[in-house]
Amino acid sequence: MNISKTMQDAIGEQVKHEFYSAYLYLSMAIQCEANTLPGCANWMRLQWQEEIAHATRLMDYVARRGGRITLEAVDKPPSAFGTPLKMFEQVLEHEQSVTAKIHELYDMATSEKDHATTAELQWFVTEQVEEEEQATQIIDTLKQIGDHGPELLVLDRQLGARQAPAAA
Ligand SMILES: [Fe+2]
Ligand SMILES: [Fe+2]
Repeated sequence: MNISKTMQDAIGEQVKHEFYSAYLYLSMAIQCEANTLPGCANWMRLQWQEEIAHATRLMDYVARRGGRITLEAVDKPPSAFGTPLKMFEQVLEHEQSVTAKIHELYDMATSEKDHATTAELQWFVTEQVEEEEQATQIIDTLKQIGDHGPELLVLDRQLGARQAPAAA
């Protein structure tokens, strides 16, 4: 059964949001690099790649259901984020807004009785729990150690240790 046009277009909007997320994290990576926080930059670059994977996963899903996404213009992200703590607070805030959008899509799929889309979106619901959890943990650490000094460099090294997950 082909995907409905309503569902297709709503997922198309989400593809745009995922590409915006990618762009936002890339902008954060640039700032981390400028502030000599290479670990933070590594973390942000991995997020950037992950968001592109989210966008393409949704795009491919729609195609498999006989639909087609139209790519939209991606908004310009901010280019200044303040201290590392402020930056990660913006990460969390952004991910919370993405979670809300995913939940709206999920509700739409449920009301359309589009079980295949519900199943696909389930992956994203779980992913958003991880996204919010990760950002919250980093914020908690930054609140404990403060925004500068040797402890920040230890955290930066930890963020630098994050690796791309093995391809599924
Ligand atoms: Fe995402
Ligand atoms: Fe993730």
